[in-house]
Amino acid sequence: MANKVLVTAALTYANGPAHLGHVLEAIQTDVYVRARRMMGDEVIFMWADDTHGTPIQIRALREGIDPEQLIARVYDEHVKAYNGFQIGYDIFYTTHSEENRKHAAAIFEALRERGDIEVRDVEQLYSEVDQMFLPDRMVQGTCPVCKTPDQDGDSCERCGSTYRPTELIEPRSVISGDTPVLRTSEHLFVPLARHEAFLREWLTPASEGGATILQDSVRNFVLSWVDGGLRDWDISREAPYFGIEIPGFPGKYFYVWFDAPIGYIAATEKWCELNGKNLDDWWKAPPGREDGQTEIVHVIGKDIVYFHCLFWPAMLNAAGYTVPSRVQVHGWLKVNGEKMSKRRGTFILANTYLEHVDPAYLRYYLAARLSSNQDDFDLAMDDFVLRVNADLVGKAANLASRSIKFLNNKLGGTLGPIPEDGAAVLEGARQKLLEVPDLYRNFDSAKALRLAMEMAEACDGYINEHAPWKVIKTDPERARAILTVGVQVSKLVGAVLKPVLPEWGEKIERMLKLDQPLSFANAAEPLPAGLELGAYETLAERLQSATLDALIEASKQDVAADQAVGATQSEDAGPSFDYEVAPLAEEVGIDALEQIDLRVGKIVECEQVPKAKKLLRLTVDLGPLGQRNVFSGISQSYAPDQLLGKHVVMFANLKPRTMRFGVSEGMIMAAGQSDDKVTVIELDPRSLPGDKIS
Ligand code: 2FM
Ligand code: ZN
Repeated sequence: MANKVLVTAALTYANGPAHLGHVLEAIQTDVYVRARRMMGDEVIFMWADDTHGTPIQIRALREGIDPEQLIARVYDEHVKAYNGFQIGYDIFYTTHSEENRKHAAAIFEALRERGDIEVRDVEQLYSEVDQMFLPDRMVQGTCPVCKTPDQDGDSCERCGSTYRPTELIEPRSVISGDTPVLRTSEHLFVPLARHEAFLREWLTPASEGGATILQDSVRNFVLSWVDGGLRDWDISREAPYFGIEIPGFPGKYFYVWFDAPIGYIAATEKWCELNGKNLDDWWKAPPGREDGQTEIVHVIGKDIVYFHCLFWPAMLNAAGYTVPSRVQVHGWLKVNGEKMSKRRGTFILANTYLEHVDPAYLRYYLAARLSSNQDDFDLAMDDFVLRVNADLVGKAANLASRSIKFLNNKLGGTLGPIPEDGAAVLEGARQKLLEVPDLYRNFDSAKALRLAMEMAEACDGYINEHAPWKVIKTDPERARAILTVGVQVSKLVGAVLKPVLPEWGEKIERMLKLDQPLSFANAAEPLPAGLELGAYETLAERLQSATLDALIEASKQDVAADQAVGATQSEDAGPSFDYEVAPLAEEVGIDALEQIDLRVGKIVECEQVPKAKKLLRLTVDLGPLGQRNVFSGISQSYAPDQLLGKHVVMFANLKPRTMRFGVSEGMIMAAGQSDDKVTVIELDPRSLPGDKIS
């Protein structure tokens, strides 16, 4: 029974080039798609650029071009990048399309008919000079929380706070620099709480009678959002907005996140039109078709779960479309243990990578370490080289190469029968293959590839033990039989690798003269004795560290060039900083916090400790709890009288520590990159000494 499986990766935002973070998701999705095809499922991979919204308007504005020109150029860059990485999508479409307009309108109308659209007044910043309401990204000002100037209208790059544009201090338009005023306009809202019952049902695990597959941790935090109360969703933006105008509301446009996922449907419609297929088979499919299931599978990053696990299923359900059966969430890509950095050259654009390094290496490395969790993925360059060379080249390619080349060069290129002592090796590999489809189905490519390497290793050991290069001198048929095991196992290994390295699979198909493409079902079929092998084709060569060094160097230049063309930031890249901070410690439960008693402390005495260059001695007043003596290593950042009278955060239940200069009875909270850059965390002077901080 062939299942129909519609797979998507997140639609790439069209305000800049794709980087390796995008490529990670594309490869994870592609491997899944190819593996499911090898299982015999009918799979389509629907994909597109996400082209609307303010960041695109702003970039176009900076470049002095129309948004249409920008998205057309970026589209070509994205397609080139994804093709280069051999992403086997069936269509790469765009949300700026008639199909998307049509489905956005249909979903909106369906919501409206159900009474799910409410019109309400919203106060917003309006620029008289620009003659427009300023959306989040079109206004900048001083962060209301940390007071850093030049922050965007929705969030602060420095302190990470999110807020409304109306909360900015001294707001100004990014277009004209004009100071906006408050004005009221009508916005359209979807009261999501009305969809709560459906969402709860959709979030129920299959094991409890539901039909949706979500990773447990994802399900739990989505449920916690539902439990916390679903907020109304503002789906409209004022003109001028680059997007889709809302039917019946001239001058109002769908917020980009309303029409973005609808792009999945629009891409499918276009694909159906080009291929003579029926959209309803996919997007209006009843659950449990007679001839198999229809599955909608979305692969996304952890930042866009809210959209895909709340808004999106609710909208689809309300409008009578097929709801997703699986949402697979992955973590961020890091490079060398850190967030991608433009300064260090680890912010790597997809097309820069392709100019320097074979995409197969990255496909392999990512797949060899990706499994079904949301942990961040570290592309550690040293480990990258090591794994590719040790496993892909040293194990899998080596087995095929030594077996096929030896047979071709010394034994006329013909296979023999499987020898008795080789049957167990082959059987071991077959047993491992049985596990592989489910691993891929569950996005655990890491385990699948581990099994492939174990198959190759075991067979390599067998060949070493029986040394065909010696045996050939006395018994060439025995040597042929030993190496035939190597070829058979290479076929099995090739099947496991094929979703990850399609060209590898095709080379195996040619070398082994297979008349059917390799699949998980046919990989274990024995190759006939007497089969004449094709010429050996190189499967993989060693990856050199120097190649990656050149990539890092080139990345510094390419990213700088891209920024020079316009964008301040690529939307997905996140802000870049000119300083580093220590990596986040491991997550802890709230109970870990409960052990620490933080209190308001007032510094009432402060002096330099003689003969201790860095230390100040403080007397910290905790009000009703008395006074404490504290030694603090901050004298390179503060003169004693600068601290007097400050209200600070005190770790008040630390065990007293005896130091050379006296007993320290607590610590005060401070931040700092080095001894001379420490800043003490200050509290509002109205806070009461001794009061608990929680
Ligand atoms: O987060 C992003 O980059 C969005 N462009 C993803 C959209 S996915 C889908 F909803 F269109
Ligand atoms: Zn801030």
